[in-house]
Amino acid sequence: MNQEHFKRAAEFVLERMDRSLIMLDGQFPAAASRGLIYEGTGNVDWTPGFWTGMLWLAYELTEDEKYRNAAEAQLASFKRRVEEQIETNTHDLGFLYSLSAVAAYRLTGSEEAKAMALQAADLLTERYFPKAGIIQAWGDLNDPEECGRMIMDCLMNLPLLYWATEVTGDARYADMARSHAKQSAAYLVRPDHTSYHTYYMDVLTGGPKYGNTHQGYSDDSCWARGQAWGMYGFLLSYLYTKEASFIEVSTVLSDYFLSRLPGDGIVYWDLIFTEESGQEKDSSASAIAVCGLLELVKQLSPEDPDRERYEAAALAMLESLSLNYTTEDHPESNGILKHAVYNKPRGWGIDECNLWGDYFYLEALVRLLKDWRPYW
Ligand code: GLY
Repeated sequence: MNQEHFKRAAEFVLERMDRSLIMLDGQFPAAASRGLIYEGTGNVDWTPGFWTGMLWLAYELTEDEKYRNAAEAQLASFKRRVEEQIETNTHDLGFLYSLSAVAAYRLTGSEEAKAMALQAADLLTERYFPKAGIIQAWGDLNDPEECGRMIMDCLMNLPLLYWATEVTGDARYADMARSHAKQSAAYLVRPDHTSYHTYYMDVLTGGPKYGNTHQGYSDDSCWARGQAWGMYGFLLSYLYTKEASFIEVSTVLSDYFLSRLPGDGIVYWDLIFTEESGQEKDSSASAIAVCGLLELVKQLSPEDPDRERYEAAALAMLESLSLNYTTEDHPESNGILKHAVYNKPRGWGIDECNLWGDYFYLEALVRLLKDWRPYW
């Protein structure tokens, strides 16, 4: 596929975003669509940063001030959220603040944005258990159901900590992030290069307990989005630490992911499923994987024999998403990528659009269309 095709694909994304800006009138799109329509919501879930991040991407792509203005207008709600600690008892602070406030700081130099992102990073450090060397994903730190539980998704939240070290010179943030990434590689990645979605550590002894799933099909299956978070997330730790082991783990997770692609290149919501399963696809997992692979290609040396293979796989997946998975044939929709699954076991957002699928689809297109510096 040529650049022209991906340029048109990005134009379609911008068209849909323009519609959401009008329909939602300053609110954030919900985490997942209903009937392919996003309703408007406040800044409470783990997902609003994806919308602000999309606006920053749109601004970078077009230099149209309307996107910058819309992104900047949202920063007040991120400031309030971190100051008043509204739903901040979560590891998702990275998803929330990297794509909103860190992006704002990187693109505009806003000191106010930098300050709120640092406040978010400080809150994230409170979830770190030194003995286990991990950040607890969800819930109260004393909740016996959640205590010491790390999850693959959290790798995407670590850049907020690495960035905090970069701008403050305080190594504490990056030390925690690096330790968490190491523990994730040791326990979330199985010897066969599949992954657990979540893993419990003993926070008193620091020892490993057991892995299980939250959003996958079963404890021993491989949740597609978890694998994709790992493909991209370990690489993000590599970008900051330059430790080769993080590239290696991203590579083996990628190889497993690519070995499970159905005919059209877009994965089922759990990698255990094959074509005969009748299960739903998760286009959002594939969009994340495309971004991870495009970053991997950037980091591998030009002589690496696998580099071309990863690039071809990423482009083929992106092509398939752009040809078969957009809402182009649903003129009423304000979503972008359909056929995604949020949480199948809980019945949330099944075969719908979701906001992170849309975000990573646009990030992938921006990566192809311009020289882009990650907000992560
Ligand atoms: N991080 C939550 C999810 O991927 O659904």
